[in-house]
Amino acid sequence: MPEAISPTQPQSFRRHFQNWLSWAGMVLGAAALFAFVLLFAIDLFAPAKNPYIGILAYVIAPFFFLLGVALTLLGAILHKREERRAIRLEKKHRILQIDLSRKRDRRILAAFALGAVGFLFLTALGSYETYQYTESVDFCGKRCHVPMKPQFIAAQHTAHAQVECVNCHVGPGAAAYFKTKLNGVRQLYHTVLGDFDRPIYITGETRPDQEICLQCHWPNRYVGTVDRTYQHYLSDEANTPFAVRLLLNVGGGEPSRGPVGGIHWHMNIANKVEYIATDKDAETIPWVRVTNAQGQTTEYRTDVFKGEPSQHEIRRMDCLDCHSRPAHNVMPPNDAVDVSIAAGRIDPKIPFAKAKVVAALTQPYTSEQEALQAIATSLRTAYPDAAQADPLIAEAQAIYRQNFFPEMKTNWRTHPNNIGHKDWNGCFRCHDGNHKTADGKKTISANDCNSCHLILAQGSGEELKKLNANGYPFFHIDAEFSEFSCTTCHTGGPQLP
Ligand code: HEC
Ligand code: HEC
Ligand code: HEC
Ligand code: HEC
Ligand code: HEC
Ligand code: HEC
Repeated sequence: MPEAISPTQPQSFRRHFQNWLSWAGMVLGAAALFAFVLLFAIDLFAPAKNPYIGILAYVIAPFFFLLGVALTLLGAILHKREERRAIRLEKKHRILQIDLSRKRDRRILAAFALGAVGFLFLTALGSYETYQYTESVDFCGKRCHVPMKPQFIAAQHTAHAQVECVNCHVGPGAAAYFKTKLNGVRQLYHTVLGDFDRPIYITGETRPDQEICLQCHWPNRYVGTVDRTYQHYLSDEANTPFAVRLLLNVGGGEPSRGPVGGIHWHMNIANKVEYIATDKDAETIPWVRVTNAQGQTTEYRTDVFKGEPSQHEIRRMDCLDCHSRPAHNVMPPNDAVDVSIAAGRIDPKIPFAKAKVVAALTQPYTSEQEALQAIATSLRTAYPDAAQADPLIAEAQAIYRQNFFPEMKTNWRTHPNNIGHKDWNGCFRCHDGNHKTADGKKTISANDCNSCHLILAQGSGEELKKLNANGYPFFHIDAEFSEFSCTTCHTGGPQLP
């Protein structure tokens, strides 16, 4: 098939590309370009957005495209060299030419074309399959399993277990879309290098904003009151049960559906609550401004804050300022053990079970493996009777696996949960009695323990059946709490942060 031509014969530049290597390069480049267009289209039109598709579309596909271009050029360069050598040695040089009148050429061409089409088809199929896979929760949580393990595991135990990661972490709109693309690429790079942050904190563009929540939740839904019982066990020998039953006044923000007020008053579209925070986690909020439906503003600040609010980022309060852990709520050890006792997985008759399990969970371990072993050893020492120790150890280890991630230095203390005020300041960041107007006449409501919830009942056994529709004054089980802030003593675990 290759035709002999004389080296002196004038030829177009194109002849250099007439070789098998260049042709293969061109097919590869075309396939990659095709895959890119396909991925780009899927990505643009798919109902749910996926940040990792960016890695395929904007890193892998271009890589193969460039590889194709490189092969094409390499083929041409090799060809040129060979031609030069042929001229030097005054030999006949051959270039690839196909003559369709020859049967052999026709066959080779057909095989090549068939191979190329097949390759294109497989590329398309392959990229679609890979796309489908990167969409899955399995990919987000498990493939990047070291960095994302805490969030992946925690998400399995919340109301959002069935919501895909991308539904919350990729915002709507073209700008958010491209930012997440780039972010996904950056994350892959750090995963490969292993130099990601431990623990991981959310960065600007991946922090879900209120718009994301509102795709599924109606902002003005009238929730009314929510009845919740917080079941606890003390750290004493008898693991004494102590529960608080609250009627939370969640309320709503839509006047046509019910009175505007209660806890969800903050999200009434007509009210705008803005604040500044002086730390990364927004745990310290020294200045708050409320703009009501008539456009009147009220500013509150703490005594210690003397600065100008405009020197800080002024943020509008949204769902995440209270619901800060909607999908990744890692449980405090106190609460996790309380749940296990309440559910019957830890026998409250075992003396000091609560205190000992919490203590075993909260030592400074460096790996999960080490922790699981140390938990077993310490509980076996405390309870020599295997019948008592074995189920206790199994449950303690299960709690550890679900809530402690030493490899990522992540546990209940690393990400504040602001929904209440017991273990984190939460509501008390503003409702602490220290936020006053300049004339000192108005304070953000604070000391009234029955303003956000009514304490319907508290204690244990028979006490819990005596409901009080007007709300009991809080009866604190153990210490006198002279201080308003619960977090001076309560941190969710035994040690203070
Ligand atoms: C219901 C919405 C929602 C879903 C679903 C969701 N997340 Fe999140 N995610 C959040 C919010 C809210 C934050 C915290 C924002 C903040 O701290 O301000 C967050 C934070 C994170 C962080 C930063 C570290 C941290 O714990 O704050 C990572 C990593 C993360 N999510 C990964 C995932 C993965 C992986 C999945 C799927 C298994 C997932 N998310 C599913 C809402 C969601
Ligand atoms: C893709 C849909 C979707 C998105 C996005 C979403 N949620 Fe949800 N959310 C749900 C579903 C479904 C439930 C569970 C309803 C049920 O089973 O009762 C839920 C439940 C909740 C609950 C009640 C939790 C509980 O434990 O009772 C809260 C609070 C909540 N979501 C807040 C948020 C916040 C804050 C965001 C934004 C970061 C958000 N959601 C984003 C679908 C979503
Ligand atoms: C001022 C704090 C605060 C803000 C802001 C806030 N919530 Fe809530 N929300 C609460 C509290 C407190 C509860 C009840 C206690 C709980 O769920 O732990 C609650 C309950 C809920 C529930 C569960 C209702 C039920 O029937 O059990 C949903 C869903 C919810 N909020 C969604 C949202 C969404 C969406 C936003 C943003 C548009 C939002 N919340 C803003 C404090 C807040
Ligand atoms: C960023 C500051 C801030 C945070 C955090 C905050 N609030 Fe508020 N809250 C306010 C302000 C400001 C008002 C309005 C005070 C006024 O002007 O009367 C208010 C009002 C309220 C009201 C009264 C609404 C009415 O009916 O008039 C309730 C109830 C309430 N908050 C509950 C909560 C709960 C529960 C939390 C925690 C889950 C919380 N708040 C967190 C700033 C905050
Ligand atoms: C600004 C609103 C607000 C005020 C004021 C307030 N609380 Fe609460 N409190 C909450 C919310 C919201 C929760 C629910 C947290 C959750 O869903 O996990 C809560 C939960 C609790 C719990 C149960 C916590 C647990 O885990 O067992 C107790 C007990 C409690 N509050 C006592 C008090 C006492 C005592 C006061 C007065 C000093 C008070 N609260 C004032 C909003 C408030
Ligand atoms: C001076 C320290 C101190 C302060 C302040 C304090 N507590 Fe406690 N609290 C304790 C101690 C100690 C216990 C007993 C813990 C145990 O035995 O496990 C306890 C137990 C409790 C319990 C029952 C058991 C448990 O582990 O949850 C609740 C509920 C509780 N406190 C709520 C609150 C609330 C709400 C506030 C803020 C309004 C508050 N406490 C302020 C020290 C304090």
